[in-house]
Amino acid sequence: MFIVRVASPEHWEYRKVMLHSIPLSELNHEVGDFFQPMKLPFQVDLQGQVAVVTGGGGILCRVMAEALAACGAKVAVLDLREDAARQVSDHICRQGGEAVGLAANVLEMDSLEAAEQEVRRRLGQCRILINGAGGNHPKGTTSNEFLTAADLQASAGQELITFFDLDAEGVQFVFNLNFLGTLLPTQVFARGMAESGAGTIVNISSMNAFCPLTKIPAYSGAKAAVSNFTQWLAVHMSRVGIRVNALAPGFFLTEQNRALLTNDDGSLTARAEKIVSQTPMGRFGAAEELVGPLLWLVSDQGAGFVTGTVIPVDGGFNAYSGV
Ligand SMILES: NC(=O)c1ccc[n+]([C@@H]2O[C@H](COP(=O)([O-])OP(=O)(O)OC[C@H]3O[C@@H](n4cnc5c(N)ncnc54)[C@H](O)[C@@H]3O)[C@@H](O)[C@H]2O)c1
Repeated sequence: MFIVRVASPEHWEYRKVMLHSIPLSELNHEVGDFFQPMKLPFQVDLQGQVAVVTGGGGILCRVMAEALAACGAKVAVLDLREDAARQVSDHICRQGGEAVGLAANVLEMDSLEAAEQEVRRRLGQCRILINGAGGNHPKGTTSNEFLTAADLQASAGQELITFFDLDAEGVQFVFNLNFLGTLLPTQVFARGMAESGAGTIVNISSMNAFCPLTKIPAYSGAKAAVSNFTQWLAVHMSRVGIRVNALAPGFFLTEQNRALLTNDDGSLTARAEKIVSQTPMGRFGAAEELVGPLLWLVSDQGAGFVTGTVIPVDGGFNAYSGV
């Protein structure tokens, strides 16, 4: 028996259920029903501040973009997928907020610089940067958790990816997307913050950064780099009024990990069952549960002396040894 927080159109409610007896579409708000009105856990005053959210068309970061807008920020939603960015900015505008949705590739300086100019022209200078674009790639992922002697005998053509088969380009893709994809937007958007002497940056790390998960060495290493960079940048920017922190989400069911966590029929995979059993709170997180920590971190009133931290939002996963 688990306590599961279930989304309903009107409100969140807690139900005691057998985990497997509820459809996955109810486990996370984001699965079936994007774009419900944002309900904030509390309000912080971001009136007039310009927030840039990379990966803002994605599942977790769209909720962050909406929350920042609901607190008065003017939000630039940046994503490789322009249509996804526009959907989010349109929704924010329909809710009475101010937002623009722009195509931007966090790995290309030209694209980022063009986006920065557009943000500056349409909204003003960036004051809050959320480095949310990131993800994994199958080519940086092994098939099995443990290498066995039998794996080494696997015949050519068999669909088994061992450590020895990892593709350098796949690994590089994951490193670049998560690490460079955090560093480059920061170079572009934090210059104005440094010049004006005020700004805050929130990077998105992961549980993998504390202790690597099996199968995904590239993603684990890349997110460890994001956490490390968060500390480095916090120190480096501390004399020009910029605070730098990171959120480390635990397990949230999203497009990025859906194939790893659910079967075709929607039931949990063995890996997902393992995750839930290793999460003391006994469930996946809901994207909305990142909002409280995010608003606290970006608020100078709330977190004015907080910089260089990586905050787990994980239902206790990181604290639990499994015994
Ligand atoms: N979902 C989880 O459980 C979880 C856990 C820990 C950390 N994270 C991290 O949270 C962040 C958001 O993940 P999500 O689960 O919402 O995934 P998501 O795939 O829904 O969102 C990622 C977004 O980034 C965009 N993107 C990809 N490459 C890009 C590029 N080169 N330039 C610009 N945009 C690009 C994608 O189009 C997508 O909209 C990621 O950094 C992810 O690694 C997710």
